[in-house]
Amino acid sequence: MNPRNVTTVVDPDKCTGCGLCLEVCPSDTLSLINGIAVVTGENSLSCGHCMAVCPADAIEVKALDTEMTSFETFSLDKKWMNFGEFPTTDIARLMASRRSCRNFKTRPVEVKILRDLIKLAILSPSGTNSQEWTFTCLSSRQAVVDFGTSIQHFFQSLNKKAENFFLRKGLRLVGIKALDAYYREYYSSVKDAMDEMENQDIDRLFHGATACILIGSGRQASCPKEDAMLAAGNILLAAHTMGLGSCLIGFAVEAMKADKTIQPKIDIPKGEKIHAVIALGYPDETYRRITGRKKPIIRFK
Ligand SMILES: Cc1cc2nc3c(=O)[nH]c(=O)nc-3n(C[C@H](O)[C@H](O)[C@H](O)COP(=O)(O)O)c2cc1C
Ligand code: SF4
Repeated sequence: MNPRNVTTVVDPDKCTGCGLCLEVCPSDTLSLINGIAVVTGENSLSCGHCMAVCPADAIEVKALDTEMTSFETFSLDKKWMNFGEFPTTDIARLMASRRSCRNFKTRPVEVKILRDLIKLAILSPSGTNSQEWTFTCLSSRQAVVDFGTSIQHFFQSLNKKAENFFLRKGLRLVGIKALDAYYREYYSSVKDAMDEMENQDIDRLFHGATACILIGSGRQASCPKEDAMLAAGNILLAAHTMGLGSCLIGFAVEAMKADKTIQPKIDIPKGEKIHAVIALGYPDETYRRITGRKKPIIRFK
């Protein structure tokens, strides 16, 4: 199906002809004919703006599943929150309190929480509203450990290659600089981490997380990486409110990009690209205060 297919339906008996849906529609899907909103466009972003704005509740966008905003672990007030209504101080405190967690308890994460986190993830924006996310959940510690072992094996073999001076320099000579750069920047710390995993059973990749959500993209996504990272951002913040710690694991993403044998081991089809891996679990750490950030470059013109 064309992702831009129109699935907007207007109930003419309810429509009062106020025209608000036309004002917010980014695709010119609707027109007012004889004082009634009518679908005249051939494309729709299926963003749901028309459905959200209609005072008469006269519009349904069939592509949108309202079940996706029903949650298992809490109930959502479905009244739209107005601009400025949510206290900035609350969201600022949440954002500043979220920290990457690298000490997790052994307690498993309930599957219903993982399902709710995914529903919260997909409330983020996506390029051309493609909503082409895929979510793969590892919902037990053992599943995370097995996945971690695949990642560990990848880095162990990468380190072996990087130790080879002639290979590094030879590749550099033919313009392939990645292995040499990896050797200079990561080799030593990755070696220490992999040795600790191997010899002391310390989980230096997933930090003892008991669950993991991998976010990927389907083939139709126009901005796959951006979509995945925005969805990931929702999960990181929401996880904190649910009592969970979280940590993005970029090492896992890099390993999956380079080693195509890893994905099939967790039943992710070959063509799918994974852009974010999030370790989750009940945190075995607490903090006392909110700290600062490095100063970014900021420009006003
Ligand atoms: C794209 C990305 C990849 C990351 N990969 C890892 C990782 O592999 N392991 C890890 O422990 N932390 C990882 N992090 C977490 C960062 O180290 C962390 O966000 C940063 O130190 C800031 O700390 P905070 O998240 O507590 O604010 C990653 C973060 C991002 C954004
Ligand atoms: S917003 Fe609702 S009531 Fe107003 S024109 Fe559109 S469908 Fe009709």
